[in-house]
Amino acid sequence: MRISVIGCGYLGAVHAAAMAKLGHDVIGIDVDARRISELQAGRAPFFEPGLPELLTEAQQTGRLAFSTDLAEAASAVVHFVCVGTPQRKGENAADLRYVDAAFSSLAEHLNPGDVVVGKSTVPVGTASRLADEVREITPEAVLAWNPEFLREGHAVKDTLTPDRFVYGVPSGPAGEAATAALDEVYAVPLAQGTPRLVMDYATAELVKAAANSFLATKISFINAMAEVCDAAGADVTALADAIGMDERIGRKFLNAGVGFGGGCLPKDIRAFMARAGELGADQALTFLREVDAINMRRRTRVVELTRELAGGSLIGKRITVLGAAFKPESDDVRDSPALSVAAQLQLQGATVTVTDPEALANAKQRFPELSYEPDSKTAIGRAHVLVLLTEWKEYRELDPATVANQVTEKRILDGRNVLDPVAWREAGWTFKGIGRP
Ligand code: UDX
Repeated sequence: MRISVIGCGYLGAVHAAAMAKLGHDVIGIDVDARRISELQAGRAPFFEPGLPELLTEAQQTGRLAFSTDLAEAASAVVHFVCVGTPQRKGENAADLRYVDAAFSSLAEHLNPGDVVVGKSTVPVGTASRLADEVREITPEAVLAWNPEFLREGHAVKDTLTPDRFVYGVPSGPAGEAATAALDEVYAVPLAQGTPRLVMDYATAELVKAAANSFLATKISFINAMAEVCDAAGADVTALADAIGMDERIGRKFLNAGVGFGGGCLPKDIRAFMARAGELGADQALTFLREVDAINMRRRTRVVELTRELAGGSLIGKRITVLGAAFKPESDDVRDSPALSVAAQLQLQGATVTVTDPEALANAKQRFPELSYEPDSKTAIGRAHVLVLLTEWKEYRELDPATVANQVTEKRILDGRNVLDPVAWREAGWTFKGIGRP
């Protein structure tokens, strides 16, 4: 099939490369000329495990091209819209300007029978509005809403073998045509047994909002338990293991720590609340306000704990923050808890050095006032307090005895509960976790 992918960010670039891997002829389009020239050269414009290999393979097969010219989408029959829906400045609602711009530009290049597929996370009701717009310009084109559930750092696997496909389609023959087109696009994973669920637009849009809200709630739930554990002298990691063995609860997404960040969960739960308000259903989602508040409180708590570890004052203390990305295996620093904590520590008088294996270039752009050191050993050297905030493997595997010889004072805060407190304390460290005695 000939496929176009509009928007080549974290979602679209992976989607384009994955569609080529599935055997389709793909044109990826983005307004960012620098990003397109990187992709044309077969280089990934951001860190995502497995993406460079897919791009190299696609260069050999010749199935994947990139362009800044949307007119090139005209040769495709299925068009995936993968542009961002950031949070509006000063508001909770989603900013739909990129989605709207992509649809109105694309509409001019559609042919009868084309299927336009929205993948961006949008407020419920957006798809039916866009379907009207598409129909007005090209009456024989169809819109489907096919939300994406990929996690950064696992994006290639999540795209090629997702847990499920969700198709939001109109009723009648148009919906059947859209379903048939998507079935052809995803023929390989469908044949391997990936389930697919066909539903109306609104439900498909809500599936995505509900999934992210549930995940965010799970994380804030365990972080709330961490607050109680801190107060009671209990251990939230043992608690999570124990409740997680109940299959109805499950152990995944029950890791307490500095909380969730990134380009999705924080802004998606806020946009969901804003949309529910517009629909007159704001009461249904007031709990998400608490989920957000618990999450933001984690960052303040980590700053407080660091100050306690530093002896009551941060002034003149050298603090090394291990991690800048919002999670490991990613160079994404959007709403990164690690950088937010680092900035607060610096504001309170600490001399902060941030290290990260992949995210420093992005971090420097967002927080130019912080100091960065790519080499973790150099960053750790002479620190008064180490604060682990992104659980990259190399930090999880730090040897307490070796690191003890590099620092000025043996004090560490494990903001992701990934280190073994016993091993660190045995090596002479003052060790603090989150919700752990
Ligand atoms: C998320 C959803 O998982 C994905 O399905 C959706 O498509 C986009 O949003 P992503 O933002 O890439 O994906 O990362 P995810 O792995 O969900 O982590 C989000 C944040 O939660 C990270 O900051 C992570 O550190 C944090 N987290 C995750 C926790 O604090 N505790 C956990 O137990 C799990």
